[in-house]
Amino acid sequence: MSKTAILNGLKRLTKVPIRPVRFYSVESNGKRIGTSTNDNGVRLSLVSGSLIVGIGLGLISSSYFVSKGDKQVFPLQSTTPLTALDPPRYGSDEDLKLCIKEIIQTIGSDNVKNTEAELDHHTDNGFNPTKPQPHQKPRWIVYATSTEDVSAVMKIINKYNIPVVPFSGGTSLEGHTYSTRPGIVLNTSKMNKILAVHHKDLDAVLQAGVGWQQLNEYLASVPEYKNMMLGCDCGPGAHVCGMVNTNASGIGATRYGSMGANIISITVVLADGTVVKTKKRPRKSSAGYNLTGLFVGSEGTLGIVTEVTVKLQVRPPYETVAVVQFPTLKDSTNTVAELFQKGIQLNAVELLDSSMMKCINYSNLVSKKYDNVPTLFFKISGLNKTVVQEYVKQVKQISQDNHCSKFEFAKNEQEAEELFSTRKNALYLMLDYAFNEIDENAKMWITDCAVPLSNLAATLEELDKITATYPLTHMTLGHVGDGNIHYDIFYEPDQFEICKQLVAEINAVTLKNEGTCSGEHGIGTGKRKFLEDELGSDTVDLMRKVKLAIDPKRLLNPDKVLKIDPLDPSNE
Ligand SMILES: Cc1cc2nc3c(=O)[nH]c(=O)nc-3n(C[C@H](O)[C@H](O)[C@H](O)COP(=O)(O)OP(=O)(O)OC[C@H]3O[C@@H](n4cnc5c(N)ncnc54)[C@H](O)[C@@H]3O)c2cc1C
Ligand SMILES: *[C@@H]1O[C@H](CO)[C@@H](O)[C@H](O)[C@H]1NC(C)=O
Ligand SMILES: *[C@@H]1O[C@H](CO)[C@@H](O)[C@H](O)[C@H]1NC(C)=O
Ligand SMILES: *[C@@H]1O[C@H](CO)[C@@H](O)[C@H](O)[C@H]1NC(C)=O
Ligand SMILES: *[C@@H]1O[C@H](CO)[C@@H](O)[C@H](O)[C@H]1NC(C)=O
Ligand SMILES: *[C@@H]1O[C@H](CO)[C@@H](O)[C@H](O)[C@H]1NC(C)=O
Repeated sequence: MSKTAILNGLKRLTKVPIRPVRFYSVESNGKRIGTSTNDNGVRLSLVSGSLIVGIGLGLISSSYFVSKGDKQVFPLQSTTPLTALDPPRYGSDEDLKLCIKEIIQTIGSDNVKNTEAELDHHTDNGFNPTKPQPHQKPRWIVYATSTEDVSAVMKIINKYNIPVVPFSGGTSLEGHTYSTRPGIVLNTSKMNKILAVHHKDLDAVLQAGVGWQQLNEYLASVPEYKNMMLGCDCGPGAHVCGMVNTNASGIGATRYGSMGANIISITVVLADGTVVKTKKRPRKSSAGYNLTGLFVGSEGTLGIVTEVTVKLQVRPPYETVAVVQFPTLKDSTNTVAELFQKGIQLNAVELLDSSMMKCINYSNLVSKKYDNVPTLFFKISGLNKTVVQEYVKQVKQISQDNHCSKFEFAKNEQEAEELFSTRKNALYLMLDYAFNEIDENAKMWITDCAVPLSNLAATLEELDKITATYPLTHMTLGHVGDGNIHYDIFYEPDQFEICKQLVAEINAVTLKNEGTCSGEHGIGTGKRKFLEDELGSDTVDLMRKVKLAIDPKRLLNPDKVLKIDPLDPSNE
């Protein structure tokens, strides 16, 4: 199977829109019915008709956000339930025009585009189970090249109340970058300079649009930096700012932690253009609130990240890759749990179930042939061969105690690289397999639950039992070192609702096992209901309070992570 086949397959995947989410459009054609609140807290209905809406918006833009008694800005409660909010007010078409004109005056027309192709590229990456509605498309793409640009642009956007979606690598998986309120997409990819590498401190200062692979390739190319890397990896093509905003992790996280643990400080532009830097450069700090952590996983809803100081990790001097096969999933997860309990440090622990192994064999990308049974890929690392061999002995012993059927090493670096790059690209292999072997219109629903490690075996068993009652096939792979599983389900377009129901059941099982609906991908538009199920409405209401405190006009990536509009009808 060729790369082109995968790409063609992907293109096919993106073609068929399925059940779109519906949101009220922002300003539309005067048909929208909105509500507003006067100073006495009395709700007035603004009926359709551009005149009334126009007057309403006029009044609002001058006084709405600052007026005394305005329950959106200075309410007395510690949390903000959705019911305490009025619908957001965004600028009109005319405001958007004026806004764009000013942005062009400020950063030049080369960085402000609305060609059909560019709008399309920023609409949907094709991985999200729920497709954007036809109108959920950006109107303008703005390319920023510096923190100052972003600040200037945000000041203008704030003046005209235009919704803005921050966008970097575009590899997120839950509708994170959908233009649910068609306005501006701010693509920060041009900000891709590596500003400084402090190799003695093991950190690097990066512009927001630096890719994790770009950084690692650069480090590998400089003799002084050759043994350093970013500990965190995720989808090929992702940028550090996107990774901060989803708290991404991936294969290295079991050893180095997720993105949150791999950053020291960030520079962020807030909704009104204010620029803040969250910390200086020491590793340690008790200086005030942890604002760095506040922005981690905020999915572009709190600010635009323009610079990131990341920690660098030292590549292990010696590393070996083992492939261990088991008769059952339970044996494999028990092995992992036992390894952790014994304090054996592993640099990667990836689980692939029998269907996933079949899919890898099918792809022909791995030269060695393996059995189609549950399999663990391990990276075992250390100071030198002697040290690593000590670890290997123990890993082998524990695997054997748990009935492993095969324990093999990658022959050389190339074979090890092959195994992990196949794992990294598993998503594409699965899609390719599905198009060819299941249905040419097949789709895949990617789930991302994580449970405490000791609950993993029970969770997987229960999931398999439930899935067996559905007419759907799935493959499981996961960063099991962190108890994180991608239970990925194939469906045909007319099975969307069935699959959605299964996904809901999967999340319920995860919660019952003290888990989360998202180990690493985030909430986006797709999992807002699961987030509420998981943490409770008070916790989500507190998040909403934070959102409104920092972004009172709700301009930044509206509708992601949590609802910001009481009229938002989506029950996803
Ligand atoms: C094949 C494949 C494999 C993957 N594997 C993994 C994996 O192993 N682990 C993992 O964690 N994820 C994985 N992902 C998901 C994805 O790579 C991560 O979620 C990644 O962090 C997204 O980064 P991005 O640069 O593509 O961000 P985008 O998709 O562009 O954006 C992500 C979020 O960040 C916001 N954002 C973007 N730029 C900025 C900015 N400058 N300031 C503020 N907010 C911003 C966006 O609004 C959005 O909410 C995978 C995806 C694919 C396609
Ligand atoms: C975002 O901008 C970069 C830099 O101009 C560009 O290479 C990339 O293709 C853009 N993203 C999308 C989805 O078009
Ligand atoms: C990021 O992810 C890690 C690991 O999943 C988690 O412990 C942490 O709480 C997350 N958030 C932040 C802000 O670091
Ligand atoms: C704050 O949050 C960041 C990001 O999650 C984390 O790396 C850091 O350890 C936290 N604490 C301090 C004091 O910075
Ligand atoms: C692996 O794939 C080859 C053909 O691609 C097939 O002949 C073989 O039976 C497969 N092996 C397993 C174990 O599935
Ligand atoms: C490997 O490292 C250990 C621990 O530092 C040391 O005792 C041993 O001599 C080293 N062995 C080799 C072959 O370098």
